[in-house]
Amino acid sequence: MTHLAFDQLRQRADYTHKYNLTTGRHGWLRLTPAYSVKIVEELMDRTHGHLRVFDPFCGTATTALSAAYHGHDAATTDINAFLVWLGQTKTAHYSADTVMQTRNAGVEVLALVKAQIVEPALPPPIHNIERWWLPAALTFLCRLQAAIDKTVPPGTGEGKLLRIAFCRTLIACSNAAFNHQSMSFKDNPQPELDIGTDYAGLFHENVAFVLKGALENPTGEAKVILHDARKLSKLTTEPFDLVVTSPPYANRMSYIRELRPYMYWLRFLVNGRDAGELDWLAIGGTWGVATSRLNDWKPEENAYTSQELEATLARVASPKNANGALLAAYIRKYCVDMAQHFAELRAILAPRARLHYIVGNSTFYGELLSVEKIYVHIMAEMGFTDIEIRPIRKRNSKKELIEFDVSARWQ
Ligand SMILES: C[S@@+](CC[C@H](N)C(=O)[O-])C[C@H]1O[C@@H](n2cnc3c(N)ncnc32)[C@H](O)[C@@H]1O
Repeated sequence: MTHLAFDQLRQRADYTHKYNLTTGRHGWLRLTPAYSVKIVEELMDRTHGHLRVFDPFCGTATTALSAAYHGHDAATTDINAFLVWLGQTKTAHYSADTVMQTRNAGVEVLALVKAQIVEPALPPPIHNIERWWLPAALTFLCRLQAAIDKTVPPGTGEGKLLRIAFCRTLIACSNAAFNHQSMSFKDNPQPELDIGTDYAGLFHENVAFVLKGALENPTGEAKVILHDARKLSKLTTEPFDLVVTSPPYANRMSYIRELRPYMYWLRFLVNGRDAGELDWLAIGGTWGVATSRLNDWKPEENAYTSQELEATLARVASPKNANGALLAAYIRKYCVDMAQHFAELRAILAPRARLHYIVGNSTFYGELLSVEKIYVHIMAEMGFTDIEIRPIRKRNSKKELIEFDVSARWQ
């Protein structure tokens, strides 16, 4: 059997037996739509031999998890401590004992909630929390959190798995709607029409779902590290053969904003000010204080730029665009940050390492920002070769918004 045929066979077995894109650990908590998981899967399927795979922008650990399921060794970094916790929990190996103990702890937790003998936790300081949860749901979640805290310490395998089930439950019983690119609220939640949702049943189902995924241990190892992708030369690691990532897009989407329900409940965030500070650290962040900081931000003298970028920035900054100057600063900072990332990435690559960046373009006041071309320019300046742009899919009804796979090779 040729190597390729063997790999294809193994791949099909993987799809049917171990996991698929929406169930298993990929489905525990996911920010990215299923197609991104699919692209990463396809890239992994095309690779042969044992690889060291790196994802500088972990998010919900799609790449690291896929790589580990394909038997590779993976490492991934993110600047968001909650996502690092999530990634570590998703990629960890769980013994049958841990899974059984988590199941028993889940039963104990629900008994405590039902008996109402544990003082409920305080609700998290989420702005307009009543928009998120009906009073009955909020009361249940506060009781559930206190019961989990009492039953299992957060650092243990059991504690982490139950907290994933908790995260799934808090979203399942919220008014949040995920049918847009970013999170919104379902229209008019009417408490008076609530006929008594079985919240305990929801948690029960989520524990069962998480435990099923926990039994599907990946064969490879994945390291999930809290680290800034602009400072990769400081990361002590083996050199990597393959980089697969979906970096932040220049679209003003804030991951902190999207993740705030989980981050507040799990106490990774304790106030709105910190939320803005964290977003300022993230590439492409613009939530709260991150926006006002942009007004004062100045690039260093030798910072990345190009003629094409300058032309786009000048059009965006035109006085006819109300926030044009601010948005031009946003775009410039995004490009400078990404250039710094690519410069630093070189320090941790093996010779001939391959890169795949799955990134979407965006528009500002009708001006198309061709992020994929900017990546090509940066990569070429940094000495990468074999650079290619492959369009992957249209993002929405706006025909110019497209996602690309920008690939390259290290020397
Ligand atoms: C598009 S998301 C990644 C999505 C991911 N592929 C997934 O499957 O969920 C971009 C990620 O980059 C992270 N990020 C932003 N700035 C960063 C930085 N300076 N260093 C490391 N990670 C950063 C964000 O926290 C976010 O998780």
